Amino acid sequence: VSAVVAIDGPAGSGKSTTARAVAGRLGFTHLDSGALYRAFALAALERELDEGERIAALADALPIRLDLVDDRFRPEIAGVDVSQAVRRPDVTARVSFVAALPAVRAAVNRMLRAAATLAPLGVVADGRDIGSVVFPDADLKIFLVAAAPERARRRLSQEGRAVDEASIRRASRELLARDARDAERAHAPLVQPPGAVRLDTTGMVFAEQVETIVGLARNAFPQLT
Ligand code: CDP
Repeated sequence: VSAVVAIDGPAGSGKSTTARAVAGRLGFTHLDSGALYRAFALAALERELDEGERIAALADALPIRLDLVDDRFRPEIAGVDVSQAVRRPDVTARVSFVAALPAVRAAVNRMLRAAATLAPLGVVADGRDIGSVVFPDADLKIFLVAAAPERARRRLSQEGRAVDEASIRRASRELLARDARDAERAHAPLVQPPGAVRLDTTGMVFAEQVETIVGLARNAFPQLT
């Protein structure tokens, strides 16, 4: 396995955007595990499957793949890029159910570990269990947190939706419900991994949070100049 930076945290804490920017700065490849869970959820939704083994078998057959394109791994279903489709609200509503199935988690973990060996320099991987389960030996682990209303505000503006108080309250409730499902599940729940640096980004602007992690990475990987 190449060099690994693991970024975990709750829904809407900015993991993916941050991971992509940090990967760009380090010359690493971005590995978005949530996008892969979303691809499994999308495939399962379309076939109305809710059983882990069947979903994993479907993923093999289609197949669901991570394709290395430039500086990121892109989720594909049967050769089609699904990086946009997996952001659909119906997929978001379903993904934590599908991600709680042990057979799905086993399949995803295999794909993530295989992908990491293909990255030329290293990966910045983000998710819920990257530092705790997928890459427990990661060279640098970050646990990214932010207050729920702030996460809701960021998510709404990212999606180009209205950012009024009522929308923030509603989006905040949805994020907290997903956090609870992710933290309370039996398999690989959302936890702060041992050895992780906890970074609360509530009052930080995006550039600041990227700089902080890039700085920590330069310490963890002295070979990067
Ligand atoms: O970007 P957002 O915070 O909305 O979520 P995501 O990173 O795309 O992940 C979507 C869902 O996949 C999460 O709510 C988890 O249920 C699941 N997931 C997981 O269980 N383990 C991971 N390593 C990554 C995602």
